[in-house]
Amino acid sequence: MARPRRTITFVCQNCGAVTGRWQGKCEACGEWNTIVEENAAAPGPVTGRLPRKGRVFALEPLAGKARDAPRLTSGMIELDRVIGGGFVRGSVVLVGGDPGIGKSTLLIQAAAVMATKGHRAIYISGEEAVAQVRLRADRLGLAQAPVELAAETSVEDIVASLAEGKTPQLVIIDSIQTMWTDAVDAAPGTVTQVRSAAQALIRFAKRSSAAVFLVGHVTKDGQIAGPRVVEHMVDAVLSFEGDGSHQFRILRAVKNRFGPTDEIGVFEMTGAGLREVRNPSELFLSERDLGRPGTAVFAGIEGTRPLLVEIQALVAPSSLGTPRRAVVGWDPNRLSMLLAVLEAHCGVRFGSQDVYLNVAGGLRIHEPAADLAAAAALISSLAGVPLPTDAVYFGEISLSGAVRPVVQTAARLKEAAKLGFARAIIPEAARGEAAAEPAILLGTVGELCSLVAAIGAEIRGVHSVESGARRQEPAA
Ligand code: TYD
Ligand code: MG
Repeated sequence: MARPRRTITFVCQNCGAVTGRWQGKCEACGEWNTIVEENAAAPGPVTGRLPRKGRVFALEPLAGKARDAPRLTSGMIELDRVIGGGFVRGSVVLVGGDPGIGKSTLLIQAAAVMATKGHRAIYISGEEAVAQVRLRADRLGLAQAPVELAAETSVEDIVASLAEGKTPQLVIIDSIQTMWTDAVDAAPGTVTQVRSAAQALIRFAKRSSAAVFLVGHVTKDGQIAGPRVVEHMVDAVLSFEGDGSHQFRILRAVKNRFGPTDEIGVFEMTGAGLREVRNPSELFLSERDLGRPGTAVFAGIEGTRPLLVEIQALVAPSSLGTPRRAVVGWDPNRLSMLLAVLEAHCGVRFGSQDVYLNVAGGLRIHEPAADLAAAAALISSLAGVPLPTDAVYFGEISLSGAVRPVVQTAARLKEAAKLGFARAIIPEAARGEAAAEPAILLGTVGELCSLVAAIGAEIRGVHSVESGARRQEPAA
């Protein structure tokens, strides 16, 4: 029998780019020392016969009836929300995250909930022995859940075993980097192996209509290690984030073919596994430093959910020629822009000051609506004046110093009122929409400078944020 032709190629383990020779630096992604020699089966005809004539297949109308409910809810509301309302049958989801963040814990919990509801859930571990997986399940109080386990790494064996018996509804592969296939000759963990293994599992998912979850490792700079290529092949990519010093874990959709990508799921890591957090604002505001300068509460929106979070700033005289600017949980470019606007339009000088900005609780904020809260925290720290503890802030700041309205004013105010806040500092133009929430005293700012003046006025004992602040009368 003719053997498939083998060719030697050099593949970047970071981005998957292929080159003809070894190089120290990958031309495609710029990483050093990532190019590895790999054996790959040559594409094209391997048997020497002529290419076969294509088979004719029938086309189907879009309006056809799906046989099953297209989605299965997992029963974990936070997970369901992130994937867009439940597992889509036949879909493949890649879950990435730092080592030890809780990916295995999350997925074994999801498998246990599904299995308890009577679905067939299979958990294949390539990293831990069956006994270790059992030990974890024991600790989580899930030892009695009818999840089927195996410790396997050969994709051919896995696909053959999964095809036996009743079709599983949920299959978890932990992790894709440990899987290998006979079809290619490269070492396990290389891009070629990971890609081929993922391809085989994706083919299985589409054919069997099982939902498949692949766990993927993450490199130091937060990308799913090696196979960026896998991200393009799967239907959804979820990232499980959090930092070691906090108990909060955030599940975020980075890509989703079947749902939104701006939803987050919030979990808390406890001694007995991950607990779903239904009201994240309470969690993020649970340890506030009340009455200290430099903190402001931002009323944000993550996906469809309002989320209140504290923004902390420290402005301190610098001993360095170039003062430090350090940001955790927010965009450093956004901070530079804000400082420039404060200097240029409001005459607030940060030139000889170190500036630190931190979003409490380990959360990352992407919304420009946080500008106003960050500005308030910065001015408060610089002036040494605490902001009112019962106020929330939101609004986008433009380069001209104007405070622009943001989406979902009413939802933000409603959440603030629910958590006992009495005032909100919001953009002038949002006043009309804000009237829907009569429980909140509104202070509106049209220009960033009026916020600076108002915080300055606090020093002199004036308590309202702007002369225009007024109590909203309940609608008659
Ligand atoms: P794990 O799910 O193994 O992480 P990953 O698969 O992402 O590498 O989680 C390991 C961490 O979670 C470990 O540091 C201990 C912690 N943990 C708890 O705090 N409580 C628990 O109930 C479990 C199972 C783990
Ligand atoms: Mg793990």
